[in-house]
Amino acid sequence: MYRDPVPSLEARGLLPAATRALRVGMIGIGTVGGGTFRVLARNQRHIAARAGRGIEIVAVAARDLARAARIVGAAVPVTADPFEVAAHPEVDVVVEAAGGTGPARDWVLAAIAHGKRVVTANKALLAVHGEEIFAAARARGVAVAYEGAVAVSIPIVKALREGLVANRVEWLAGIINGTSNFILSKMRDEGMGFADALREAQALGYAEADPAFDVQGIDAAHKLTLLAANAFGMPLRFADVQVEGIDGLEAADVRGAEQLGFRVKLLGVARRTPEGVELRVQPTLLPATHLLAQVNGSMNGVMVKGDAAGVTMYYGAGAGAEQTASAVIADLVDLARLEGVPPAQQVPHLGVHPHATEALPVLPRAAAPGVRWLRVPLVAGQRLDALQAALAGHGVSLQRVVWADHTPAAAPEALCLTGLLVQATLDDALRALATHPAVRGPVKALPVETLDA
Ligand code: NDP
Ligand code: HSE
Repeated sequence: MYRDPVPSLEARGLLPAATRALRVGMIGIGTVGGGTFRVLARNQRHIAARAGRGIEIVAVAARDLARAARIVGAAVPVTADPFEVAAHPEVDVVVEAAGGTGPARDWVLAAIAHGKRVVTANKALLAVHGEEIFAAARARGVAVAYEGAVAVSIPIVKALREGLVANRVEWLAGIINGTSNFILSKMRDEGMGFADALREAQALGYAEADPAFDVQGIDAAHKLTLLAANAFGMPLRFADVQVEGIDGLEAADVRGAEQLGFRVKLLGVARRTPEGVELRVQPTLLPATHLLAQVNGSMNGVMVKGDAAGVTMYYGAGAGAEQTASAVIADLVDLARLEGVPPAQQVPHLGVHPHATEALPVLPRAAAPGVRWLRVPLVAGQRLDALQAALAGHGVSLQRVVWADHTPAAAPEALCLTGLLVQATLDDALRALATHPAVRGPVKALPVETLDA
C-alpha cells in the first residue's frame, strides 16, 4: 500500500492543527471550475502551506448534476440552484465560475448579501456590473477577487494594483484574448481557415460560451475595461471602449501587413492623452520584431508603461482550465491570508480607494491619434501617385505606398502607411475614396502601434 513518506504539515508544526480550512462553494464546474477543483486536489498540501490553512470545496452548483458529481465525487454535495451555494451556511467564499452577466450578477450579489467573499473569473460580469458589485461588497465589508478575469495565468491585476502602485501609468497594451490570438496564429502559421481554427479553440476550452465575444473583440474589451480602471484609477467604462474584432479580417490584410514588416494582432490599448483616455480593441499592426508580435497561440502578453518603472511586460497563458485555476486559487489564498484584516486595510477592488477615483474623460473615436495602414483596391492601370494625391487632398499624408504582392494585375491593390493623423481626418478621406473613380472597392484601414519601440 502507498504510504505518504512526508509527515503532515500539522505534524511538522507548519500549520496550527486547529486552523479551519477555508470553505469554498463553486457555482459552475466546467472548464474553469473543473480546473480549479483538480489543481486544489493535486496541490492541496503545497497550497495549504502557503495559505496557512487548507482550502476545501464544500458545495457545487451546476446544471448537469450527474456530470458535476462525476467531477467532484460523492463527498461534495451538488445542487442545480446557485442561490443555495450563495447562501450556504458552511461556505466562506463563493467562486463564480459559470459565466454570463444576468443570473451571475444575482448570484454574486446574493453571496455578498450573505457575507460571503467572492472570487470570479467572469470579466463580462465585472465590466458590466462591476461598479454595483464592488459597491455592494464594500457596504458588506467583503472582498471580490478577480485575477482570473484578465490574461489568466499572468498576475496582471496584482501587478497593476500592487507591484506598479507607485507609478502614474501612461499606457498599457495587450493581447488579451487567447482565442483570437490562437486563431490568428493558426491562420498565419498553418494556413488554417478561420472556422477550423475557431472550432479547435472551442474544443480546447479557450472560447467563451458564445464565441462571438472572442472574435468580435468584446471579451478583450471587457478585460481592457478592468485593466484601464486599475491602471488609471478611473471607473469601469466598458460602453466607451472602441471595439473591432478579428472577424472582419481577410487573408489579404494579414499578407499585406507582413509585406510592410508588420504582424496583425488583436490589441487592447489604454492610453492617457491630454484630451482623455484612449480605450480601444482592434486588429492592430505591430512591427514584426516587436516583443508583443512574438506572442502566439493562446498566449497573452501585456505591456505597461509607468512613469517610474518604464515599460514592463508580462507573458503567459490567456485561457485554459488549469491556467485559469492558477489565478482563481491565488485569489483564494489571498482571501485565506486576509481573513480578519479590516476591509479598509485591504487592496481596493479597482486599486484606488473609491473616493479618489478620477472620472477621466474617454477620448472619442474621431479624436484617436495615430498612424494607419491602408489596403486600397485600385482600378487596373491607375498609378500610386494619383492615390497619394487623392489622399493628400483630404489631409492624409503617406510615409509609404507600394503595390501589394500576390494581387492579380487585373485587380491591383495598394498598401499605404499614413503619417500621424486623427481618425476624423481618415474617415473624411475614406468617404471621398469610396466614390473615387480610381478606387475599386472598400478600403481597409487598421491602426499601427510601435509602443515606444
Ligand atoms: P463552461 O461552460 O466550461 O462552464 C460553465 C459551468 O457553469 C458549467 O459547469 C455549467 O454547468 C455551469 N452553469 C452555467 N449556467 C448555470 C446555471 N444557470 N446554473 C448552474 N450552473 C450553471 O465555462 P468556462 O469554465 O469556460 O467559463 C466560466 C467563466 O470563466 C466565464 O465567465 C468565462 O468567461 C471565464 N473564463 C474562462 C476561461 C477559459 O479559458 N475557459 C478563462 C478565464 C475566464 P453545466 O456544465 O452543468 O451546464
Ligand atoms: N475566451 C477567453 C479567451 C477566455 O479566449 O481569452 C479567457 O479569458
